[in-house]
Amino acid sequence: MNKIRTKISLQLFLAIILSFFVSLGATIIIFNFISWLNNVFNIQEKSVNILIAISLSVFVISIGIFVLTFFLIINRKIKYLKYISQRVKYIAHEEFGSTIEIRGNDEISDLCLNINLMSQELKSKFDHEREIENSKSELISDVSHDLRTPLTSIKGYLQLLKDKQYKTLEELETYINIAFGRTEMLEDLIENLFEYTKLQGKEIELNYKRLCLNDIVQQIVVDYGPLFDKEHLNLQPSIPNDKYFVKIDPEKYVRVIENLLGNALKYSLKPGIVAVSLFSENNGVRMAIKNRAKSIDAESLAHLFDRFYRFEKSRSKETGGTGLGLAIAKSIVELHDGSIWAEAENETLSFNVWLPLSLQ
Ligand SMILES: Nc1ncnc2c1ncn2[C@@H]1O[C@H](COP(=O)(O)OP(=O)(O)O)[C@@H](O)[C@H]1O
Ligand SMILES: [Mg+2]
Repeated sequence: MNKIRTKISLQLFLAIILSFFVSLGATIIIFNFISWLNNVFNIQEKSVNILIAISLSVFVISIGIFVLTFFLIINRKIKYLKYISQRVKYIAHEEFGSTIEIRGNDEISDLCLNINLMSQELKSKFDHEREIENSKSELISDVSHDLRTPLTSIKGYLQLLKDKQYKTLEELETYINIAFGRTEMLEDLIENLFEYTKLQGKEIELNYKRLCLNDIVQQIVVDYGPLFDKEHLNLQPSIPNDKYFVKIDPEKYVRVIENLLGNALKYSLKPGIVAVSLFSENNGVRMAIKNRAKSIDAESLAHLFDRFYRFEKSRSKETGGTGLGLAIAKSIVELHDGSIWAEAENETLSFNVWLPLSLQ
């Protein structure tokens, strides 16, 4: 700040010298003019002296006014620059996102505007990083919990086998089967976890293809039909003749439909109907999968897509869920610029996926 003050003082000094010489020049011209008037019109000496005094006073007063105004303006600017410097320090050390008051409309106010933009940008970047960091630590603690549960159970059964604590061969087989089942759960969880974290990464690349969604859904419904029959569920597709073309990574997108159908298969109340429909909506296409389910409150409905969220914890564990299926589906749909949501009405739960249509 002192540097600026010295620089400005130096400029002021130069300006005073310049204005001094300019005014001096002007005064000399006035003097000459007066003496010319004196020679030509023979004005009295007294009047000449008055004229000289007036022009000298004007000269002194104008320099005075110039210096005073210059000082007032510069002083305000210096105070403002001091304030800006303090705020920038505060933003850097205390609080990203805080701003500088904008005064006037010149290069300095432009600079403040840009500092404010930078401060807000830094804040949103910082918040985003912090969110990622929090979400990572949450993920690690969720994962450790979910890995520990089957692992404890496997260890328990292996301990029984190790200590030969079984009476019959059937009992031995049961223990082995349970332990094996738990290792499958672990495998599932690790695979899903791997897929979920990959989808969260920025480097994920999708292999887009323009495909007809009707054909894809139709094919999956045909493939899943027998599995639903076995569970006393009637899979009812309602796919229109109008073809809906979308730009998707087929491998990833099929995973979304399979996750939703897999859930309907596992969690639907049985016997029942699982309806799969396709229809156009808002320049896009909506796929809805409806099944009968225990009534679900709005709060749980909003959390269904959170990772590791299970509506009925004990039942989902029984069916071997990892709680990642819907979180994976959500990540995939959002990578496709689509949206996914659940709606509940009485005993019907429906999962909806909207995708923009691809016109060419
Ligand atoms: N079609 C459905 N009907 C009833 N409940 C469902 C359905 N889909 C999901 N849910 C509930 O949402 C929870 C989360 O599903 P998901 O993320 O796929 O995890 P997971 O199937 O591994 O438990 C499930 O545990 C279940 O309670
Ligand atoms: Mg699931």
